[in-house]
Amino acid sequence: MPSLGVNIDHVATLRQARYREQPESHNAEPDPVAAALIAELAGASGITAHLREDRRHMQDRDIFLLREKITTKLNFEMGLSEDILRVALAVRPEDVCLVPENRLEVTTEGGLDCAGRLDVLAPAIARLREVGTRISLFIDPEESQIRAAAALGADFVELHTGAYANATGAARDKELHKLMEGAALACELKLRVNAGHGLNYENTTAILVLPGLEELNIGHAIISRAIAVGLHAAVREMCDLIDRK
Ligand code: PXP
Repeated sequence: MPSLGVNIDHVATLRQARYREQPESHNAEPDPVAAALIAELAGASGITAHLREDRRHMQDRDIFLLREKITTKLNFEMGLSEDILRVALAVRPEDVCLVPENRLEVTTEGGLDCAGRLDVLAPAIARLREVGTRISLFIDPEESQIRAAAALGADFVELHTGAYANATGAARDKELHKLMEGAALACELKLRVNAGHGLNYENTTAILVLPGLEELNIGHAIISRAIAVGLHAAVREMCDLIDRK
């Protein structure tokens, strides 16, 4: 059965909406670290957080405190900048998920171009491996990208489910088929399979049949639902939905 990694970036998004100038002030809320602890109590098996180059939601303080306080595991999402790489090397997360990063995007839009960036990715991966971090690459379910991830010696691919989540009807079936084929190829190449982006309480069930699927990383839908039912209940509901597989 796949496990649930809860992405808490949007808790920080809400904090930054009010406390952008003083995210560490005594009354800055909501606190993503407190949210992570609630998510763990509710059944999350990991916490995912993305420190962006522009620090638009998570702050360095959040990542270091998460490292200290959470008891499951930290999946640190990051783009390939030297500044962020240094944070990762100091924090030593269990997992690093390398993602593309474009300052203008609202959220991570496409998958990482592993095939076209082997030369940049290989040395960064080697440095992260020195601190014992497992490497995940967030990629679209395309053969060339999956083969490149294997060539780079990644532990995991995180298949980008955004196109599937945004599609409807026959187009959605087609996207699901691509994810199935991508996951099967990843397994064949001995890559472990995670998935995420745009998953919610309606579209997650169909994803659970992906070959080899180990972990789903879900953020926006859970944090949004938390506004209505509370974070503990929102995480619990997603865990139950995954457990019903
Ligand atoms: N996985 C990755 C690599 C992501 O970049 C994101 C978005 O930050 C997610 C999962 C979670 O996506 P969502 O917030 O749409 O659930």
